[in-house]
Amino acid sequence: MYPRTAAAFARANIAFIKYWGDLDPCWRVPANGSISMNLAGLSTRTRVTFDPLLGRDTLLLDGEPASAAALERVSAFLDRVRQLAGRQEFAAVESANNFPMGAGLASSAAAFAALSLAASAAAGLSLAEKDLSRLARAGSGSACRSVPGGFVEWQAGAGDEDSYAYSIAPAGHWDLVDCVAVISQEHKRVGSTEGHALAASSPIQAARVADAPRRLNMCRAAICERNFAAFAEVVEQDCNLMHAVMMTSSSRLIYWQPATLAVMAAVQSWRQAGLEVCYTIDAGPNVHVLCRSAGVETLRAGLGALPGVQMVLVAGPGGAAALEQDV
Ligand code: DP6
Repeated sequence: MYPRTAAAFARANIAFIKYWGDLDPCWRVPANGSISMNLAGLSTRTRVTFDPLLGRDTLLLDGEPASAAALERVSAFLDRVRQLAGRQEFAAVESANNFPMGAGLASSAAAFAALSLAASAAAGLSLAEKDLSRLARAGSGSACRSVPGGFVEWQAGAGDEDSYAYSIAPAGHWDLVDCVAVISQEHKRVGSTEGHALAASSPIQAARVADAPRRLNMCRAAICERNFAAFAEVVEQDCNLMHAVMMTSSSRLIYWQPATLAVMAAVQSWRQAGLEVCYTIDAGPNVHVLCRSAGVETLRAGLGALPGVQMVLVAGPGGAAALEQDV
């Protein structure tokens, strides 16, 4: 007999050095390593129940039946768990985010990290952190970074076996805060999975990937030494490189809106005025503005006053994915 049901939660994460493009899209083995921070307070809670009476997998997202595409992605992921555990039963999955779905934040990282832990535990598996991270990666690349806690590095690896994430510093190591300037709440037209597939079509991608070890070293050292100036320089450069690849892919991807550029310019002027602040942007128009805890209130007010900024979400460093009973 195995536990049929388990619930787990995991946090979203923000990448400082970005994952963009795959070596192996089937297993989501990335073209380059990446570094991120888990976001406290922005989490997904997921319950998985394997049930011999079910004729297919089911998926409820925030209480509503999920789209066919979302169910298909989750079902394919559950097939991997069933294969690992040697089980056949279908599962009922219920997942809820505690942050607004419409905030345009990537929710797949928290979702697949929580799903990996809940599904593997419900199937009777007790995976080591490394193997849980590998499993989450197969669901959504960035999800492997939401498994360990705090500041996390995903080593690219050469294949499924050695492509996983581990913590490089605990959440309490540095008082970094992510102030997310929400500019659009619309669902993005081209999602990350399609975007990764376009990366290699940009002539800039090869140079971006070749230079990744240098940026990873700079970012890791800046975090370990809590050196904000060095951190700001490499984080903004890495973000701009990824967007340069996006903008020069065929077909091209331009995620920025006028308000995105306005926030980037404001961040630069605040930094010149002495505030420890920098930006990073994922596959969407919203800007993640990073600062130290002492700068949060100034920044929240400054961002809120910029035209086009709809709301500001604030999150510090968060811990590892956990089973509900362990919380
Ligand atoms: C721009 O992990 O969302 O946020 O594996 O297709 O789910 P899939 O992609 P995903 O890609 C994340 C892209 C990014 C950069 C990052 O988080 O590293």
